[in-house]
Amino acid sequence: MSMISASNIHKRFNNLEVLKGISLAVNKGEVIAIIGPSGSGKSTFLRCLNRLETIDEGSIEIEGEILADTDAAGKVHYAPEPAARRICRKMGMVFQQFNLFPHLTVLENLIEAPLTVKGVKREDIVPQAEELLLKVGLAEKRDVYPSRLSGGQKQRVAIARALAMNPDIMLFDEPTSALDPELTGEVLKAMRRLAEEHMTMIVVTHEMAFAREVANRVIFMDAGEIVEQGTPADVFGSPVHARTKAFLNRV
Ligand SMILES: Nc1ncnc2c1ncn2[C@@H]1O[C@H](COP(=O)(O)OP(=O)(O)OP(=O)(O)O)[C@@H](O)[C@H]1O
Ligand SMILES: [Mg+2]
Repeated sequence: MSMISASNIHKRFNNLEVLKGISLAVNKGEVIAIIGPSGSGKSTFLRCLNRLETIDEGSIEIEGEILADTDAAGKVHYAPEPAARRICRKMGMVFQQFNLFPHLTVLENLIEAPLTVKGVKREDIVPQAEELLLKVGLAEKRDVYPSRLSGGQKQRVAIARALAMNPDIMLFDEPTSALDPELTGEVLKAMRRLAEEHMTMIVVTHEMAFAREVANRVIFMDAGEIVEQGTPADVFGSPVHARTKAFLNRV
């Protein structure tokens, strides 16, 4: 069973077709890196997976449960509300902008959703949250507010916050591209560690070295399509398509 099975995903914004039939199946423990030029639809695809955007055609299954499907008449049906929310909660997402709650401390940022959305008990989630902070190297920042953190620290809090919901899958949308170069390493290290623990991950990234080292599979998207995919050695070492070659030569 795939963790994620997306088939023939189409997405339009007004007249602009941004995704032109994307299909992707992700196995348990797989780390997928999605690369490609600006505007190729990478973020939109990730956002479709967890229903931050609705699709116009295609189907999405998460761990064997149907989130969205298209009927014979071409109409898209989503799972009913409580089920759709539950399915999407299997995926944690980390964005380029960290979106931490500024009025909550680091610890409170981590426990907020488990408490309010999942109804987990405070005494159960606090030790878990502390463990996650330790894991991302921020145990000592437990009680500070986000404004006192560096960008890299904020992003590691955002990763820990997503993990506090105990997801089976993590989606990352360019988690390091808003960071100063000297701060990207600490965030990539936290992600590398997650990959080593066999978290299923999709990472949209410009960090080619990270994609090469950590991903099991690299997907090259251009103009709303998957143009080429394969192992990092294949895609970076001997790309087949002219568009892939041109992109890799530019970056
Ligand atoms: N909410 C929206 N409304 C209208 N157009 C949108 C919307 N979101 C994205 N687009 C358009 O869809 C296309 C794909 O955008 P998307 O953000 O998915 O690209 P991307 O590959 O993530 O690019 P980048 O590398 O710059 O982040 C772009 O042309 C963008 O302008
Ligand atoms: Mg993007």
